[in-house]
Amino acid sequence: MTGYTIAVVGATGAVGTKMIQMLEQATFPIKSVKLLASKRSAGKKILFKGKEAEIQETTAESFENVDIALFSAGGSISKQFAPEAVKRGAVVIDNTSAYRMDSEVPLVVPEVNEEAVRSHKGIIANPNCSTIQMMVALEPIRKQYGLDRIIVSTYQAVSGAGISAVKEMKEQAQKMLNEEPYEATILPSGGDKKHFPIAFNALPQIDLFTEDGYTFEELKMINETKKIMSDDKIKVSATCVRIPVVSGHSESVYIEVKEDGASVSALQDILRNAPGVVLQDDPSNQIYPTALAAAGKKETFVGRIRKDRDEDKGFHMWIVSDNLLKGAAWNSVQIAESLHKLGLIKVSN
Ligand code: A2P
Repeated sequence: MTGYTIAVVGATGAVGTKMIQMLEQATFPIKSVKLLASKRSAGKKILFKGKEAEIQETTAESFENVDIALFSAGGSISKQFAPEAVKRGAVVIDNTSAYRMDSEVPLVVPEVNEEAVRSHKGIIANPNCSTIQMMVALEPIRKQYGLDRIIVSTYQAVSGAGISAVKEMKEQAQKMLNEEPYEATILPSGGDKKHFPIAFNALPQIDLFTEDGYTFEELKMINETKKIMSDDKIKVSATCVRIPVVSGHSESVYIEVKEDGASVSALQDILRNAPGVVLQDDPSNQIYPTALAAAGKKETFVGRIRKDRDEDKGFHMWIVSDNLLKGAAWNSVQIAESLHKLGLIKVSN
C-alpha cells in the first residue's frame, strides 16, 4: 500500500485524539499511523479507521520510517523528540509553543500563509489556538483594507488546558451543585503557585505571568500575529480569559483598518467569501456564533460586526472556533495536506 506513515505524539490527549479523527478525514494517502504517548499509555488500544491501533511509548526510534509526525504532548516532549524525528527524515508539525517563534520555523495557518511551508527545515509550527481563529477571520480584511491595530479579549475553553482540566471542571461543577467541598489543582496554570476553581468562574490568567503583567498566552497572541502576518508594525494587544466552556474559544476583537471605505457590509461581504470562515451575523434574528454551536466544526465563525461609535476606522466583531479542531488538530492536519499538495513530503519507504 502506498501513502504516508504518520506518527501522532500525544495520541491519548485532548488534541491528539482529535488529530486522529482529523487524519481519518484527511484527503492525502495514509499507509499507516503510529500512535505515541507516554509509557503509562503503552498497550492501550485506539480505533483508527475502524481498526484497532496500539499506543506505543514515545522513543527516538519510534520515528524510524515516519514521514509526518504530529506533536501535541507538551513543549518539553517536542524539544526532546522533534529533532529525533527530523533526524530520521520526518517532517514535524508541532502543536506546542516550543518552536513557534524560532526564525527557522514557519508558523502556518494554511488559509493565511500556506506558502510559508516551503521554507521548512524539518519542523513546522502550528500557532496558538486563539491566534489561529483570529488570523483566519482578520487576514481577508487585512488584504483588502490593511490593519493598523488589533485588541482582543478571549473567552477560552477548558479543553485547551488538557483532558485533566476538563475532568476537574466537571467534578467541581458537580460538587458545587451538591454543595460539597471541591478541589482546584490545575487552573489557571499547572506551573503556578495558586489554583482556582473554573466551574461557574472566569479566570483572567492563562499560562504564567511575564514581568510586564501580560501572560505568556497573551504574548503568544501578540508575537504570533506579527509573525504570521509578516508585519512587525501591526499594533496588537490581548487579554486572555479562561471560562467554564468545554470546547470552543470565543474572542471579542477590535480592529482599526488602514484604508478608507471599510463598512460593516463590506466586512461582511469579505468574510462571507473568506476561506475557512462562516459568517453568522444577523442580530435582528439573534444569529451570531456561540462556542457550543461551533464545537465539533472545522470552520471559524464570525458575527456581531459593528462599526466603532467614535473611531472611523474601528470595527468590533465576535470570532468563535473549536480550539481543538481549527485551533489545533485540524490546522495541523491541514498543514500536512498543504505539504502533500505542494509535493513537499518524501515517502521514506
Ligand atoms: P499519556 O496519556 O500517556 O500521559 P493533554 O493535553 O490532554 O493533557 O494530553 C497530553 C498528551 O501528552 C497525552 O497524550 C500524554 O500521554 C502525552 N504525554 C505526556 N507525557 C508524555 C511523555 N513523557 N512522552 C510522550 N507523551 C507524553
